[in-house]
Amino acid sequence: MSDAVAVIDDGGVRTIRLNRPEKKNALTLAMYLEMTRALKEADAADATRCVVIASTGGTFCAGNDITDFLKASAGGGLDPRAHEFLLALARCRKPLVAAVRGAAVGVGTTMLLHCDHVVAGADATLSTPFLKLGLIPEAASTLLAPMRMGHSRAFSLLVMGRPLTAVDAREAGIVNTVVAPDAVEEAALKAAREIAALPPTTVAVTRGLMRGHLDAILKQIEAESSHFRDLLQSDEARAAFAAFLARKK
Ligand code: COA
Repeated sequence: MSDAVAVIDDGGVRTIRLNRPEKKNALTLAMYLEMTRALKEADAADATRCVVIASTGGTFCAGNDITDFLKASAGGGLDPRAHEFLLALARCRKPLVAAVRGAAVGVGTTMLLHCDHVVAGADATLSTPFLKLGLIPEAASTLLAPMRMGHSRAFSLLVMGRPLTAVDAREAGIVNTVVAPDAVEEAALKAAREIAALPPTTVAVTRGLMRGHLDAILKQIEAESSHFRDLLQSDEARAAFAAFLARKK
């Protein structure tokens, strides 16, 4: 069990909190495992009506831990835990709310495309620098981003790696509201409680109908993953990971 992910249940709302602020909430394999477990439990529990993904500190999530990427690219192979998390996220039948403060990088951004309601702080930035790292975007973002924001905006985000501000992301339709950074969590919890108070069957049926493309999402995750595994072994990716870890501040 990792204390880098804290899970709290309160009146039908489960909060899954990324709790590794000293590393900007970069996700380790242990954190993916905890998040997968927390999502699956939420899915199975009748009492849980809504899940909030939140974070400790001023950065939502700095993406996958680059040390783990480096280990995987140096011959360790890709551990399945990140992949299992992406599948659990896509399959989760409970509404997902996100509370985003500061930077959301890589999977920190692509996980938001699976969320039903995203509250962002005015300080939030969403970015997916996968290509600069010699990788490709994951979490079905190559399907969901163009679908949610149109090809041009998705290309700018996913391929060119241009960050979106909170306001840009709201205009693009992937963030619901932008609030002051210290009001993010309360606004997200308020939305979650509102969802949790609705009749659960009607929420589940409506959400299921709205997300009728689950098979396509799962297929896209698999397709991305097979390219991702290959690219992770490239000299280009290895050099980019090493450069990040060796950078001077
Ligand atoms: N993997 C591993 N460690 C990470 C990390 C990551 N994805 N992101 C941040 N960290 C670590 C840093 O190495 C640093 O560790 P140290 O204090 O032991 O040196 C610590 O977290 C703080 O990060 P720092 O870069 O000093 O903070 P910052 O406020 O200047 O910048 C970010 C924050 C998120 C903008 C920056 O850390 C960043 O760009 N991270 C990498 C994001 C990324 O490319 N992720 C992969 C996407 S596919």
